[in-house]
Amino acid sequence: MAAGSGMIIKCLLLFLSFSFSLNLFFLYLSFGRPSDRLTWTRTAALEAEAVASLSCSGHGRAFLDGIGSSQGKPTCECYACYGGSDCSQLLPDCLLDADSGSLLLFETYWKQKAESSAVVVSGWHRMSYEMTGTSLMSVELERVIRQLHSTVGNANAKRKFILFGDGSSQLLNAAVHALSHNSSSPASVVAAVPYYALFKDQTLLFKSENYEWKGDASHWNNVSGSSGKFIEFVTSPNNPDGNLRRRPLLQGPSTKAIYDYAYYWPHFTAIPTMVDDDIMLFSMSKLTGHAGSRLGWALIKDEEVYHRMASYTETNTLGFSHESQLRALKLLKVVLQGGGRDMFQFGYTTLSDRWRKLSTSLSLSTRFSLQKISAQYCNYLQRIREPSPAYAWLKCEMDADCERVLRAAGIMGRPGKEFGASSRYIRLSLIKTQDDFDLLLQRINALVDQEGVKSIF
Ligand SMILES: Cc1ncc(COP(=O)(O)O)c(C=O)c1O
Repeated sequence: MAAGSGMIIKCLLLFLSFSFSLNLFFLYLSFGRPSDRLTWTRTAALEAEAVASLSCSGHGRAFLDGIGSSQGKPTCECYACYGGSDCSQLLPDCLLDADSGSLLLFETYWKQKAESSAVVVSGWHRMSYEMTGTSLMSVELERVIRQLHSTVGNANAKRKFILFGDGSSQLLNAAVHALSHNSSSPASVVAAVPYYALFKDQTLLFKSENYEWKGDASHWNNVSGSSGKFIEFVTSPNNPDGNLRRRPLLQGPSTKAIYDYAYYWPHFTAIPTMVDDDIMLFSMSKLTGHAGSRLGWALIKDEEVYHRMASYTETNTLGFSHESQLRALKLLKVVLQGGGRDMFQFGYTTLSDRWRKLSTSLSLSTRFSLQKISAQYCNYLQRIREPSPAYAWLKCEMDADCERVLRAAGIMGRPGKEFGASSRYIRLSLIKTQDDFDLLLQRINALVDQEGVKSIF
């Protein structure tokens, strides 16, 4: 009798646990793993994963909109000097592009953050011109930008107006337009040599009766009695030489400055102080590396200047890509996790290592020299940090045409003349992929070695 009831209890327990497991299984099917519940994002997610899984031999990558995607088979796009359908072929005689300012070294970083940085854009995402209400800008992105500046401590964004631009490039001339308003004679637009070429190119292209390009600021510093309004572009750290420039060369009540802080982030420079200037420009291109998204911003003190710049961008492009704003928001949120340490440390470690290798190689040369940058205390990292500039500003000590000398060695840089400097200088990009840098270093080493061989004979 006792054995029989024990048996019944056992069967009951078995039945109960079976029914419990079955229920759990059905619950899992209805509310289980999120990926099992995807509906309209499923195909897009599968497509995105499929294209990202192409390894391209580690010397390239494939994109959804790449050539061949119309046949449903995106192909590899190889890094400079690699070829073949899977990018496995090194092209030894290629001309290496050390000209471009694309911050491609961050591709590796963003691959590590693949899951947290991906964005899904629906077919009906924010189709109108306006973002929210009548605003053309994402309030949430504005908030995150302010938070980032405050976390990094590079610029004071409190009580500043924020204006987005289709890249900070759009904001350069917007600022000139706003500052030159109401001048009795055309304002003189200047920058100290070496300067970023777009300051000159845009001022000349968008010719206006309110301003004109007047070249090197240091020239006007030396001209006594020069009068009229000056607008000086101050880039800090400077493109191309990486030096911090804290003040305009031209001082006085009739000089207005536009501060281009595209590179004022801890991966490129020490952050010795929190800057707080009237017009400060920043760019996603040099912060996270997303140049292709074309998104920059200005922090502006004066309300009237802000309105003039805003009216310029509105007339010029009628707003800013909503997809870019969404993407920037996602990326900056990732950067902000852990206070930005992850991304800035990655960038700083990579760039300081590249700078050390290049300067060690060139220290053996009498024909070539590099700009001088010192180690400096960084408030963000809270320690002295080594230099990690975006570009090498190389001087050919003996040869007048540095571009020609480097081209002969298979390296294409950006000639000094484009920065208002002499052709003895050339800018070499250190911010591209590791493949690009390895090849650059190899070719520079070969140039330096040639020197050694020549001096023996
Ligand atoms: C000093 C400087 N300002 C502005 C820009 C343009 O940035 P964006 O890509 O945001 O237009 C660059 C790009 O190289 C730059 O070097």
